[in-house]
Amino acid sequence: MKRLLRAAWPESVSRPVATPLQPSVVYATEDADMLDSQYLGQTKGYTYSREGHPNAEVVANLIDEMENAAGGTVVSSGMAAVTIAILSAVKAGDHVIGADQLYGRSLRLLSDELPRLGIQTTLADPTDVNAIADAIRPDTRLVLIETVSNPTLRVADIEGIISLCRQRGILVAVDNTFTTPKLLRPLELGADIVLHSLTKMLSGHSDAMLGYVVARDPELCERMSMLTATMGVTGAAFDAWMAERGLYSFDMRFERASNTAARLADALAELPNVKRVLYPTRPDHPDHNRAVALLDGEGGNMVSFELDGGRDTVNSFVRAMGSLAFAPTLGDIATTLSHPVSSSHRALSEDARAAIGITEGFIRVSVGCEQPDDLIETFKAALS
Ligand SMILES: Cc1ncc(COP(=O)(O)O)c(C=O)c1O
Repeated sequence: MKRLLRAAWPESVSRPVATPLQPSVVYATEDADMLDSQYLGQTKGYTYSREGHPNAEVVANLIDEMENAAGGTVVSSGMAAVTIAILSAVKAGDHVIGADQLYGRSLRLLSDELPRLGIQTTLADPTDVNAIADAIRPDTRLVLIETVSNPTLRVADIEGIISLCRQRGILVAVDNTFTTPKLLRPLELGADIVLHSLTKMLSGHSDAMLGYVVARDPELCERMSMLTATMGVTGAAFDAWMAERGLYSFDMRFERASNTAARLADALAELPNVKRVLYPTRPDHPDHNRAVALLDGEGGNMVSFELDGGRDTVNSFVRAMGSLAFAPTLGDIATTLSHPVSSSHRALSEDARAAIGITEGFIRVSVGCEQPDDLIETFKAALS
């Protein structure tokens, strides 16, 4: 027998407990008839990992369950999810409304890239359903919102927007990254599309970059999956495998981080050099009542605040925070700090940032799972 390449998988009557990582790009099939039946969906079988692979499917199924959805697709990043959500639902000549407070790259996609493809866009305030109504045109096809916005933590009038868009036959897409399915399941409220950056809280360890997108309509789900394969933005197997591991501890991590975030927000509000604190369930939050009703009294793991001072004050503060990472991300197991002016919202003009309340002194905190008292003391010491 000549030596063959590709060893046989060892037999075993037992099964692995942890999901195996399956990095194979391609799958061998019995014959051409079988391949036909796989492509036609008559037989279930993987063909080529850009078209789908088991690790992505495992993750998609887990998030489907969390979102009370079916048929979600795992893509290569949160931005891939935003892109697939929009491009699967609209075409050149359509009009898209985006919330004026979105993740910076989502704003860039709406303001710079979609118009280049013949898709006109308008940004409007999602906390005011009348502002959304005013932005609607006869060719409006989709509205994109984040329920709790990045980084100002404003709470969109999601119910008002869904009801308005239903009457007008317009799709509502919700980026649920900040709220997570723990605080909100947009499909249950009547949204048409839900998406996530899985890079953040759901995976939770800053070592996997992935996104997830799903629609209420199975046909739209199918188009999302096809577009993902065609554009080549399928999530990688290793990242999906890491994300699956993170998902199992999501509930515990989120609960711990949210409880600490609520306490941290109150502690920050007492400090003299903190001008204002933004946390959805605090009574001084501009959308307090809506936040409490919508999010079941929980505020999530994100806290933003404004330091009394400019860049120098921000630099001294982040240096004084020692081992806490000053890093443009969120949702890590550890607390991270970010400065939207120099990171996520750097592409906006100063005026555009000022209009939504992002100043040089603005800091966004993604609260992690540290011991709460230690964390709060670290902030107090750095700010004193
Ligand atoms: C709300 C929100 N949506 C989408 C994204 C994009 O996610 P990713 O970095 O995985 O592309 C981010 C990134 O921070 C985000 O905060």
